[in-house]
Amino acid sequence: MSHNTFGHLFRITTWGESHGAAIGCVVDGCPPGLAIDAQAIQAFLDKRKPGQSRFTTQRREPDEVEILSGVFTNDAGVLVSTGAPISLMIRNLDQRSKDYGAIASAYRPGHADYTYDAKYGIRDYRGGGRSSARETAARVAAGAIARLIIPGMTVRGALVQLGPHKIDRSRWDWAQVNENPLFCPDPGAVEPWMAYLDGIRKAGSSCGAVVEVVADGVPAGLGAPLYGKLDADLASAMMSINAVKAVEIGDGMAVAALTGEENADEMRSGPEGKPVFLANHAGGILGGISSGQPMVCRFAVKPTSSILTPRRTIDKTGAETDIVTKGRHDPCVGIRAVPVGEAMMAIVLADHVLRHRGQCGS
Ligand SMILES: Cc1cc2nc3c(=O)[nH]c(=O)nc-3n(C[C@H](O)[C@H](O)[C@H](O)COP(=O)(O)O)c2cc1C
Repeated sequence: MSHNTFGHLFRITTWGESHGAAIGCVVDGCPPGLAIDAQAIQAFLDKRKPGQSRFTTQRREPDEVEILSGVFTNDAGVLVSTGAPISLMIRNLDQRSKDYGAIASAYRPGHADYTYDAKYGIRDYRGGGRSSARETAARVAAGAIARLIIPGMTVRGALVQLGPHKIDRSRWDWAQVNENPLFCPDPGAVEPWMAYLDGIRKAGSSCGAVVEVVADGVPAGLGAPLYGKLDADLASAMMSINAVKAVEIGDGMAVAALTGEENADEMRSGPEGKPVFLANHAGGILGGISSGQPMVCRFAVKPTSSILTPRRTIDKTGAETDIVTKGRHDPCVGIRAVPVGEAMMAIVLADHVLRHRGQCGS
């Protein structure tokens, strides 16, 4: 049984392989009448696009999105959604499949090569085929559509840890995130991080990272107990991103070390009797339902598996061998995972807005 679809009422299905003709997605459940702006979708894709700096893979893909279906020009001359499935396509133009000849039979450690073979008995080894994070471009395009369903909510992501180096949270400045190639919110961390990553890159090595995604303006009441919890859906969304090994909501793993007093997000009465929370350890979700506080999610990304140091492995026949992964790779995939995490959070929120509307009416 295959699973290429995510979401319930706002549902995305992605397709395509790293070195196939194209990748894309079908976005189903988009309400009609929403202005669909290809440029706006493109702006998000450009953030994730490879070859943007020396810190991301040098694969040159323009990542231009084509809208194939589900839109029509209305009487006012605006291209809008019709309610039909929206199909988005991004052509693959810079495949270099010869780079991958050596891995046709040998399994790259840390990649999905062995597991795809174990499951399917056949594997598109060119760039990892379907297991390649090239697929995440389709998620970013779908995320741009999802944002149209959550006006008033802002979904932003940032890199908060690069390898062992954490940001100083007291210096957090959202305005900095798009001003540096690492999506780092701490201006004081950018230079040392770049020096660290240059060392990693020149050594042909790689490092991991932690990405934080925050949604502001989320109204109280989105989400569903018990099996449709907002936090469960968020965890599933983030964990589905390539290379993600851990997901936290709010204080996450750190709550284990807190006392009940410390962890309590105490409440006072604000304007019109609406709650004002004095802290947000819960990350904006209580009982699987949004509290109206910022929704905070973090995920850890493992170091890029493709490195220039030979690693021990086996081939299809079980023979032992060493492997060096050729091809062009990100020294830290966490950087390009930032817009992907943002897209996944927007997709979860869009789905829950429609699900809430379905049950509660507004
Ligand atoms: C945006 C992005 C880009 C990635 N690029 C690479 C890459 O260049 N080289 C690599 O070894 N892994 C890369 N990965 C991670 C692999 O796709 C992933 O580790 C692999 O498919 C195995 O899946 P898993 O780590 O989720 O278990 C990337 C991940 C993301 C999110």
